[in-house]
Amino acid sequence: MSWTPSSWRERPAKHIPEDYPDESRLAAVEEQLKSYPPLVFAGEARRLRKRLAEVAAGKAFLLQGGDCAESFKEFHPNNIRDTFRVILQMAVVLTFAAEKPVVKVGRIAGQFAKPRSSAVEAIGGVELPSYRGDIINGMDFDDASRAPDPGRLLQAYSQSAATLNLLRAFSQGGYADLNNVHTWMLGFIERSPQGEKYAALADQISKSMAFMRACGISPDTTPEVQQVEFYTSHEALLLGYEEALTRIDSTTGEWYDTSAHMLWIGHRTRQIDHAHVEFCKGVKNPIGIKCGPGLETDELLRLIETLNPKDEAGRIVLIARFGADGVAQGLPGLVRAVQASGRNVVWSSDPMHGNTLKTDNGFKTRPVDRILSEVRDFIDIVSSEGAHPGGVHFEMTGQDVTECIGGAQAISEEDLSSRYHTHCDPRLNGEQALELAFLIAEKLQSMTERSQAAMSSTAAVL
Ligand code: PEP
Ligand code: CO
Repeated sequence: MSWTPSSWRERPAKHIPEDYPDESRLAAVEEQLKSYPPLVFAGEARRLRKRLAEVAAGKAFLLQGGDCAESFKEFHPNNIRDTFRVILQMAVVLTFAAEKPVVKVGRIAGQFAKPRSSAVEAIGGVELPSYRGDIINGMDFDDASRAPDPGRLLQAYSQSAATLNLLRAFSQGGYADLNNVHTWMLGFIERSPQGEKYAALADQISKSMAFMRACGISPDTTPEVQQVEFYTSHEALLLGYEEALTRIDSTTGEWYDTSAHMLWIGHRTRQIDHAHVEFCKGVKNPIGIKCGPGLETDELLRLIETLNPKDEAGRIVLIARFGADGVAQGLPGLVRAVQASGRNVVWSSDPMHGNTLKTDNGFKTRPVDRILSEVRDFIDIVSSEGAHPGGVHFEMTGQDVTECIGGAQAISEEDLSSRYHTHCDPRLNGEQALELAFLIAEKLQSMTERSQAAMSSTAAVL
């Protein structure tokens, strides 16, 4: 069967609602979206592929993060700005430690659709369809909200367009200028241990910037110090929406999904003969594959072959999400098999989705120490198999929420109710995200030092 943007419709599809009350209205909305402008340009997605090829080669690091689920209610410039600045702060910490460029990819400007473990939710004897993300239905627990509404596709498109517009302004218009490294600090982080560590690093950067200015390198002469490349990504889940934004790139004649620079296939929808893999096969964007418990090595190799038959560098990002308890068991075999196949991939760690638990008082949460532990083990495992631990994938918000327990603020189970705002999974708050960045930075630094020491001892022997 030859690929078209709609060939996924011939395949079984999980997690796409089939109960739209008005199918013809859905089709009309999708038609309307097909005439709307693309959100990203194919050339940008190609540039991201090039950047990811550098990550695969161990020459750069991938930082991918943002909300679990964006929502219409939390759509506000301050939220976009705060997410963006925490990612900038994390990137600065990592760039400084790893001495490598950091490729910044947000889970933003399109991350609306959610796979759910159960199709229905029951509260007090009443059963309704589960909430599936704002692009599909509403969170309120009543019939009207939970019915899938095609109008939501248009609202998600327009929110994505406005979000992307602000992100482009922030990344190109001066906000991301390295001379502003101190001003990205969020008020609530400033007085924390992570904030102090960051301030010390920002001082060093400011001194280097002053030195460079004295040498004649300023934003006027070198725009790179004033601008950053920032890419967008989301799970390719609601394929009708993705299909509507899939266009032929006039410069190459290839298909790109212009709803985001990068897309990923979730843990629950990576069946090789199903709709989500079929759709992603034909678009040229970089594609992430969530790799978690139950994924067999031959299945992974077949997925890589299907999605990247020409073994193009920067096309595939394997996102491991085994959980702190499962990573030592699940990951080494996969890395070994991919290494043996000689396939070019980026290995990234999602330390969030395998570490979700429910507290006695009924909150879905994630312990920060398990998140940190999974990232640490991921780095050790991937490098001991001879591959590059290339990146992290995480859920965070710039807001001062209390959703994940632990961390430097020692958020307890009792604290969760104080500022628990997520529409789906628990997210790291700004301070916890910075803590994660420092941990990765220290780990990468000690690896670089170890390999330098190994090289100099080899040199001594020779
Ligand atoms: C997600 O990234 O929000 C998600 C649902 O992840 P996974 O598919 O790995 O469970
Ligand atoms: Co999530």
